[in-house]
This record gives sequence, structure tokens and C-alpha cells, in this order.
Amino acid sequence: MVIGVLKEIKPNEYRVAAVPATVQEIVRHGHEVYVETGAGVGSGYSDEEYAAAGAKIAATAEEVWSKAQLYYKVKELFPQEFKWMNPDKILFTYIHSNAHREETDCLLSSGVSAVAYEDVQDRNGRFPLLRPMSELAGKGGFLAACYYMQAVNGGPGKLLANVAGVETPVITIIGCGNVGLGAAELAASFGNEVRILDVNIDAMLAAKKYLPGNVSFLVSNRANLEKCLRESDVLLNAILWPKDRKDHIVYRRDLGLMKKGAIVVDVACDDGGAIETCRSTTHDNPVYREEGVLHYCVDNIPSAFAQTASVTLANSTLPYLLQLADKGFKKAISENRYLRAGMTCWGGRLTLRETALKQGREWTDPEELVKGW
Ligand SMILES: NC(=O)c1ccc[n+]([C@@H]2O[C@H](COP(=O)([O-])OP(=O)(O)OC[C@H]3O[C@@H](n4cnc5c(N)ncnc54)[C@H](O)[C@@H]3O)[C@@H](O)[C@H]2O)c1
Repeated sequence: MVIGVLKEIKPNEYRVAAVPATVQEIVRHGHEVYVETGAGVGSGYSDEEYAAAGAKIAATAEEVWSKAQLYYKVKELFPQEFKWMNPDKILFTYIHSNAHREETDCLLSSGVSAVAYEDVQDRNGRFPLLRPMSELAGKGGFLAACYYMQAVNGGPGKLLANVAGVETPVITIIGCGNVGLGAAELAASFGNEVRILDVNIDAMLAAKKYLPGNVSFLVSNRANLEKCLRESDVLLNAILWPKDRKDHIVYRRDLGLMKKGAIVVDVACDDGGAIETCRSTTHDNPVYREEGVLHYCVDNIPSAFAQTASVTLANSTLPYLLQLADKGFKKAISENRYLRAGMTCWGGRLTLRETALKQGREWTDPEELVKGW
């Protein structure tokens, strides 16, 4: 199959879907890979490195779009890319169709076959192509706190680490999932006192087994939260807040409980979500203050660590990409129900229930669909 790796066009997106090491694997499976010139530059990979790995370098995006059968990308489609979708093409990328109505219109009207990274599942019902980005976002969120704590960056001048003779900083993390654990691992390795709040005791028990002793686990309730707010230098939110919830975990008035100079990092960055005062920000304008408290709520933290993100994302997507390329769309989707869970559409039919419900569209059950193939 001919695979096309494109340069992402979303502002501040530096990641690339395939890195030279994974291109080499794809080529070893007998496929042809076209990489748009400069596609890897934001992640630190040159055209020459891709060529050495066996890729053909395309001088323009048009060349990749027209030659490739399978488009291997990172971000969703933008309007200028819609015209390349048709029933002979496969799209494999983060699609987020539920959030992008126009993109969904294009996917359905074009008849393209599409699999969304974010919906591929593993046998435990988890999302293996979201996990690596969540871990990075958690770690990156903690590093942002380290940056904004510095006096030269307008902070109180605190080093978030264990320094002899100085009180150990306290980092409170709400949510013991992928983001929370990524943040906790890094914050703890710097010697901070780390507290994780969650409602899921099993998740905390599992994490306790491998995180060091300077991480404690607390049930997320009002009493524990208030104590943590009073004592913490950083409050890092790492929970996905249901869109239909109108309440919050941390209210505007709670910010008054926080220590002078303490900051909020909201990795989940849901506007008015678990933290009432959070609204998502970008790398161009990452922070703002509410009630005197600095908030960092960047919605695309992994892109700041584009090389690490590209390598871990490419490693994670490669086995699924190879199944699609080796077997073809129908066989790969029929044989692997975890990959099937990621199918957004085929032949103009929407197979992702969540998007159908959200956008009031007809839905085709993927289990029924594959029976007819
Ligand atoms: N900003 C970014 O760049 C970026 C990148 C990746 C992920 N994210 C976002 O980060 C969020 C977390 O992702 P994840 O992969 O860690 O999710 P996850 O599902 O692995 O973890 C969420 C955790 O929150 C806990 N939780 C749920 N309700 C709670 C409550 N009321 N109190 C305390 N804990 C509660 C759950 O038990 C779970 O352990 C998501 O919203 C995701 O979209 C942001």
C-alpha cells in the first residue's frame, strides 16, 4: 500500500505521524511511504533521515495527497484538506469528529474509510493511542508549573524540588489517570511531596504499587481538597469532566484558600469544568490570572515536546497502521475488534455512536456493518 505522511497544518502543531525508525518498519513490510518535505522538521527529523529510512520525499502536500492510499496524520482534517477524501482512501489520525461537524460532513459525503486514534481501544477498554499523549501532557504540565514558579517568569521564585534546608513543595494532582500519573511520576522524582486525589480507589491502589513513597493518595472529597488547596504550591487538574455537569470540584471562591504564589495547571483544560475558573489556552498565550492565581491551561501540551511526542505516538500507532496496510481496511477492521472500535466511518456511513448522538446523525453499528463485508 502507498502510505502518505503529511506535514501538519494546524498552528503550533509540530508533531509528525511517522518518524524515520517507524518508516523503516513500514517499508520493511513492503509498503511505499511518501513523506511531505519538511514534515518532520518540527520534531527534529530531516528529509534526509526519512529518505535514509526508505521514504520517498514529496515536494508538495498535493503529491502526497494524490499518490497515497492511506493518509497517516496527527491532527483532524482542515477544510483545505477535505477535497482529497474519496472512497478509495483511508484516513488514520486523531479525528475528533464529534467536535468538528464540517469535518464529519466531509468524511460522510466523500465515502472515505476512517479510523480515529482516539477511539481505538485495548482489551481493557482503555485507549492506547491517547495514553502516550496523556502521559506527556501530565509531565509537560508539571514542567510548566516549574517554569511559571520561577521569579524570572513572574512567579514566586520557587524551585519545585527537594532542596536541603528548604520546605518541600507540595504538588496536588486531581485525577489518578494517565495525565495524573505522568505528572506525579515527574513531580515525585524531583523530590516534591505529591498528593493525588481520586474517587477511584482501585486506580490509586494500582498506582501506589509503582510510585515512590513521596506520593500519597487521598479520596477526592471536600475536606481533603480544602486541606490540599491550603498547603499546595501547585494544583494540577487531570480529570475529564463530563460535559453535562454544571458543578465543579474547585470553585472560584476556593482560589482564596490557596497559598500566595501557588498556581493552577489544568491539563484537562475544560472550560468551566472541574475547575470553575479554567478556560483553555494555547502555546501562544498560555496563562492568565483569576482571583490573583496564575492559571496554565494549554490544550495541546504534547506539541511542545514534539520529538518525544512523535516518537511515542508513532510507536503506538505503528501496529495498527501495519494491520491496515498489510491486510487492507476491511480485513483489518473485521479481524481486530479493538481497531474496529476506532472506525469513524466507511462508505458514507457513520459508525461512531458518540458523534451520531452528539450531532443528531444516523448511526451504523460497526458490528453489523462488518458482517456484510
Ligand atoms: N492539555 C493537553 O494537552 C491534554 C493532553 C492529553 C489529555 N488531556 C486531557 O486530560 C484529561 C485526563 O486524561 P487522562 O488520559 O488522564 O484520563 P483518565 O481517564 O486516564 O483519568 C481520569 C481520572 O480522573 C478520575 N476522576 C474522575 N472523576 C473524578 C472526580 N470527581 N474526582 C477525582 N477524580 C476523578 C478518574 O477516576 C480517573 O482516574 C482528559 O480531559 C484529556 O482530554 C489534555
